[in-house]
Amino acid sequence: MDHFLYKDGVLHAEDVAVSDIAAQVGTPFYVYSTATLTRHFKLFDDALSGMDHLVCFAMKSNSNLAVLKLMCELGSGVDVVSIGEYLKAKAAGFPGERIVFSGVGKTREEMRIALEGGIRQFNVESEPELAALNEVATSLGMKAPIALRVNPDVDAKTHAKIATGKSENKFGIPIATCRDVYKRAGEMPGIDVIGIDVHIGSQLTQLEPFELAFTKVAELTEALRADGHDIRRLDLGGGLGIPYERSNSAPPLPVEYTDVIRRTVGHLGCEIEIEPGRLISGNAGILVSSVIYLKHGEGRDFLIVDAAMNDLVRPSMYDAYHDIIPVTEPEAGEDQTPMDIVGPVCETGDTFAKARNMPGLGEGDLVAFRSAGAYGAVMASEYNSRPLIPEVLVKGDQFAVIRKRPSFDEMINRDTIPAWL
Ligand code: LLP
Repeated sequence: MDHFLYKDGVLHAEDVAVSDIAAQVGTPFYVYSTATLTRHFKLFDDALSGMDHLVCFAMKSNSNLAVLKLMCELGSGVDVVSIGEYLKAKAAGFPGERIVFSGVGKTREEMRIALEGGIRQFNVESEPELAALNEVATSLGMKAPIALRVNPDVDAKTHAKIATGKSENKFGIPIATCRDVYKRAGEMPGIDVIGIDVHIGSQLTQLEPFELAFTKVAELTEALRADGHDIRRLDLGGGLGIPYERSNSAPPLPVEYTDVIRRTVGHLGCEIEIEPGRLISGNAGILVSSVIYLKHGEGRDFLIVDAAMNDLVRPSMYDAYHDIIPVTEPEAGEDQTPMDIVGPVCETGDTFAKARNMPGLGEGDLVAFRSAGAYGAVMASEYNSRPLIPEVLVKGDQFAVIRKRPSFDEMINRDTIPAWL
């Protein structure tokens, strides 16, 4: 459920007409709903009630400072994957003890900054990384709290580019050999072994892969405890999918997912961490764009809009489906015609939808791409020298620009020309 609904014939973000934001901010832009972000966080938080837990928002899905501040105030933790994300989380107010540092290639410098600034835990993904962290922590006279990210060799049944839990993927330490690594970790002076971490992929629409992975984690917990490790925290990653296509059957609910957690690892008495990103921010955001031209091609029509693949790369990168709706509510029973919805970038891949049925639209009309709050703005680029687009946050009947559109001069002046030119 989200808070982008038609009211009086116009799409609203909560109580604000999207057309009013467009008039003030110009298109294209992203807009996020405070109520949806809050609701989605609480769905997870409530569903884990009664268990010692921390929901750590995966900020890679949406890292705007205002969104982070909101999550922080809701009591969320945060999952970061670079020191840039760590410093942003700190700037938004997250205390170190609510920041989990994931990622396959943390550098020594990143480890040092996080250790000095405070960290809940490092999710360590390889033996060389473990050795480096031990060195850095020892040199600072500290002990780094760690979970080893295990690779459970489970098929997440999602798009190949976002599946992470098979042995051929670059992530984690094979579950079969990780007891030895835990043994070595337990002997390192700069390392404090506290738990196990697993994350098998993103946009999962079935519970079975989670069930398989968490069951393996439960077995490993018992084995490691028998080996003498004090395993007291399980980080079960993120990955629960969202309904992009309203016609498709909906993915499982957060409460069904947390039931799997209770069933598989609930008896172990561990503190539970989860790292949802998309399910919190995905349907909490839309991308608003306006029609530049309607072009009649041979055998097909092209709706050329002012957003492009540099603003929302998911369709061209993952063949992702995004619902695209007019901001002015179509009349009931209004004729629809199939059209290809494309951006102005000079690549055929700059296609958002093919043969999508749309009501009559013309120059200047506004359209909204739904489910664009996760992996939208964060993956944007300035390809084709198109400045990054603004982000707006709505709360009730108020809205604020939370990232402004840079001027062309700002974009141009970021480059420098050497003296010899
Ligand atoms: N934890 C870790 C260690 C992750 O790598 C990820 C996502 C998450 C949590 C959050 O997963 P989520 O709950 O959002 O599924 N750009 C792609 C998605 C990449 C996901 C990368 N890792 C997309 O647009 O679909």
